[in-house]
Amino acid sequence: MNVPRHIAIIMDGNGRWAKNQGMPRIMGHYRGAEVAEEITRTCIDLGVEYLTLFAFSTENWNRPREEVELLFDLMRNYLKEKKEELIRLGVRLKFIGRRDRVGKDLRRMMEELERETAENYRITVVLAIDYGGRDDILRAVNKLIRLEFDHVDEETFSYFLDLGDIPDPDLLIRTAGEKRISNFLLWNLAYTELYFTDVCWPDFSSEELYRAIEDYSGRKRKFGRVLDE
Ligand code: FPP
Repeated sequence: MNVPRHIAIIMDGNGRWAKNQGMPRIMGHYRGAEVAEEITRTCIDLGVEYLTLFAFSTENWNRPREEVELLFDLMRNYLKEKKEELIRLGVRLKFIGRRDRVGKDLRRMMEELERETAENYRITVVLAIDYGGRDDILRAVNKLIRLEFDHVDEETFSYFLDLGDIPDPDLLIRTAGEKRISNFLLWNLAYTELYFTDVCWPDFSSEELYRAIEDYSGRKRKFGRVLDE
């Protein structure tokens, strides 16, 4: 199997999964967080270097207030509870997205986790929280304006985006049947292979991940070139 160096995932379908089980939507997110942990472990075993997870988009603020609050409680509690385990696993954590709207507690926790896991090297897990691809591009443009650049090339521009020097994703997985990018990593996904599955995120598993990687392994990546026959 040709294992991707960087996998990005849009973890969709938590709400639908919960509804099908006759449970409140937040239970889908709880189960979703457990699946994110299982997939992180599998990625470590497979030798994936970067795993980027879309946890909360700039548009998700438009959800009912109660769901937003519970989701942030979940993320805060999960990160607090799992901190030692993440360190033990050798996870380097990085957060992408806006930092100005997530609340002081979570912001502090993010900074602390990034600092305390900076030397870990088994995998880099990137959590996208209050992240939007357009917002990422605009924040980069505004930084460049502030620094009075009058010209930038692709490499420099990429560096100013939230992923910085992390290589572009090789494989994007989206669960729950939707076939959209939904404002995720717009710049970085330019040549990423896309994989869609009908399985809702809480039912996603290591087996499903192997399936996605197997499918990816059979793809010919051309990056706009012609491949020799
Ligand atoms: C999309 O499903 C999922 C989200 C908006 C939240 C994803 C967040 C997690 C899985 C928690 C991650 C936490 C950590 C600490 C990594 P949806 O609610 O849009 O599902 P639906 O389309 O069926 O309604």
